[in-house]
Amino acid sequence: MRILVIGGGAREHALCRAIAASPLTTALYCAPGNDGIAAQAETVAIAAGDLPALIAWAGANAIDFVVPGPEAPLAAGIVDGMEGAGIACFGPSAAAARLEGSKTFMKQMAAAASIVTAPWRRFTDAAAARAHVEAAALPIVIKADGLAAGKGVTVATSVAEARRAIDAALIHDAFGQAGRSLVIEEWLEGEEASFHALADGTHLLPLATAQDHKRAGEGDSGPNTGGMGCYSPTPALTEAAQSEAIEAVLKPTLRHMAAQGAPFRGVLYAGLMITPAGPRLLEYNVRFGDPECQAILARLVSDLLPALLASRDGELGHMDLRWRSEAAMTVVMAARGYPGAHATGTAIAGLEAAEAIPGVTICHAATRRSASGWQAAGGRVLSITALGDGLAAARERAYRAVDRIHWPDGFCRRDIGWRALAAPPAP
Ligand code: AMP
Ligand code: GLY
Repeated sequence: MRILVIGGGAREHALCRAIAASPLTTALYCAPGNDGIAAQAETVAIAAGDLPALIAWAGANAIDFVVPGPEAPLAAGIVDGMEGAGIACFGPSAAAARLEGSKTFMKQMAAAASIVTAPWRRFTDAAAARAHVEAAALPIVIKADGLAAGKGVTVATSVAEARRAIDAALIHDAFGQAGRSLVIEEWLEGEEASFHALADGTHLLPLATAQDHKRAGEGDSGPNTGGMGCYSPTPALTEAAQSEAIEAVLKPTLRHMAAQGAPFRGVLYAGLMITPAGPRLLEYNVRFGDPECQAILARLVSDLLPALLASRDGELGHMDLRWRSEAAMTVVMAARGYPGAHATGTAIAGLEAAEAIPGVTICHAATRRSASGWQAAGGRVLSITALGDGLAAARERAYRAVDRIHWPDGFCRRDIGWRALAAPPAP
């Protein structure tokens, strides 16, 4: 099969590695990809947001199956567009992608499907939102309604901070249209986990669990980022918590979406807070997490491609996936200053030596290859994934690989996995 992956980050690099390894793949393209991805796929210079050009290119190049990585093209209707042009495409329709694209839609869906989430209200007026947070308990969570590239959520621990978040979105237009409506919700206490499942409209196929570190600083402090590292599996999602999430959250979602005429196909990624009362849905994403995808796919023994095809074809009821018992840890290396201002074009050395460690793979998020070697070309630049016999062994290998990379202008968190590694062993 001739496959086109859409996107250009480390998640798409992991998808390309997995799809390139499938015996079903005869040709693999990635648009736009990056210079690291070029080791597995032929890159195509079309932006992930240029839907008409992607659809025309896929048609002209006899693509059999398209796999979009990021949320933006899904929300914009890449699946509808490709399928309309007769090209099979993995993922949700634009109507189903509203689960991620609109927090209000997600909250209304949850209420209609009797899924418990944090109590919430929607605001478009700054004065009304301010009055609400002044009377509410702290912390309180303020969310831009639309897609804001992972930057639209503030967990405010003071009224002043809550007001700043409200004003930034509703008065200063910090998120454009995505922030002209806010969901303000109660803060839930617990540990977070990422639960991914493939869906085909009717059936679910849960993937390995993961936990992400979203804050830039050690000890989960500092500003929110796209994700600084993760590990799989996570002890926070016990078998019992997984079953509860499937029965009380994911299955009702699939039933509701199908009943609304917008059946969900693709990856349903539930961001869960594991509270003493059980797992609670914080948010839905309609694509693989980045960096979770890198850690999850490192543990997948089965061929990924037939599972993606089965999701698109409504055949997941017949699928099963095999996983390695080893744990995986992914450490993200970012340019100094990320998620704020940072330099690009800085030199990176030592990638080959790092990847020579058994069980280590490097996915490129934003790199360029020049005559003199590799250079950084964005904020999150590399993700280093290691397998190990248990999380501690995976961590040891991941950081051994990181230490072989010479990039004075980059940084990474040194404490990925700290919650799981500090936790007492399960009884
Ligand atoms: P989201 O983009 O909705 O996942 O939110 C980003 C981050 O904000 C999450 O990963 C959580 O750490 C935090 N968060 C979101 N909603 C809540 C909530 N209701 N209670 C506590 N933390 C939350
Ligand atoms: N790692 C979080 C996300 O992909 O949304």
